[in-house]
Amino acid sequence: MDVRQAIAKHVATLQRARIDAPRLECELLLAHLLGITRTQLLAELNRQLPTRLTSRLGKMVARRAARVPHQHILGTVSFRGHEIRVNRHVLIPRPETEQLAEEAIRRLATIEKPRVLDIGTGSGCLAISIAAEHPSARVDALDISRPALAIARKNALLNRVASRLRFVFGDSRSYLPTRVRYHAIVSNPPYIPSAQISRLQPEVRDHDPRLALDGGPDGLEFYHAIASHAACRLRSGGQLLLEIGDSQAQSVRHLLTAQNWRVEKILPDLAGISRIVVATLPDP
Ligand SMILES: C[S@@+](CC[C@H](N)C(=O)[O-])C[C@H]1O[C@@H](n2cnc3c(N)ncnc32)[C@H](O)[C@@H]1O
Repeated sequence: MDVRQAIAKHVATLQRARIDAPRLECELLLAHLLGITRTQLLAELNRQLPTRLTSRLGKMVARRAARVPHQHILGTVSFRGHEIRVNRHVLIPRPETEQLAEEAIRRLATIEKPRVLDIGTGSGCLAISIAAEHPSARVDALDISRPALAIARKNALLNRVASRLRFVFGDSRSYLPTRVRYHAIVSNPPYIPSAQISRLQPEVRDHDPRLALDGGPDGLEFYHAIASHAACRLRSGGQLLLEIGDSQAQSVRHLLTAQNWRVEKILPDLAGISRIVVATLPDP
């Protein structure tokens, strides 16, 4: 079987399973197996595939047809160009969160040796990008999930930033590290209202950890906690950058201002949905 035939066969399987963009997904799986880019794959449509490889591809496609996210099948995601390994213990990093990283990195760029706290680090994608893209940044990365912290640590080593990251186990609702006053606190906390989780698409509902999704009855539990506990962990002029869920902008703005934060900006994502909140504290 050649590349063209393999794609045709497996696209049909993915179509039957109602996977969006079946051809793209199939090409990504095959390119990964061959260790080449998708563009290279498309230039090699007549390449013959050994049986060993077509059988591995068949198994991968069967998993994808069963709605396992392709990031879990490949075990890795590119986040701002950094390789981030993922497994069932961590949320698959999303493109919206790349925007949060970008905003934080831009705001920290002129600060020498900035100290940053990442609340709910998961795979470590935010903490690692900040450390990788700001050569003197030191980041504390907090999570309540020990298996998530284990993979975040591996990702830090993989991206050669482990010496500037400190992983902290704890419940952010009642504890934030006290040793340091931070220039910035970033967080993409769980923000899905509990009752909505069962209605999410299977890739998310069945494969992202519930701990990474569940934001309590109204989805705002973590924003309330951050609004009340983060202020005393920031140094003067420090900034809070939060990712928020669809239609949470006004609620998050209100709960922050009620705790004396100044909401400087709410940035939209690429779909135009308010997604990133930037808040600061008034001068003492
Ligand atoms: C939405 S995920 C974000 C992961 C990663 N920062 C990202 O953007 O892809 C939220 C993370 O918060 C962690 N978490 C949930 N409850 C927590 C708590 N009470 N204290 C600290 N971390 C918590 C979860 O384990 C999960 O890793």
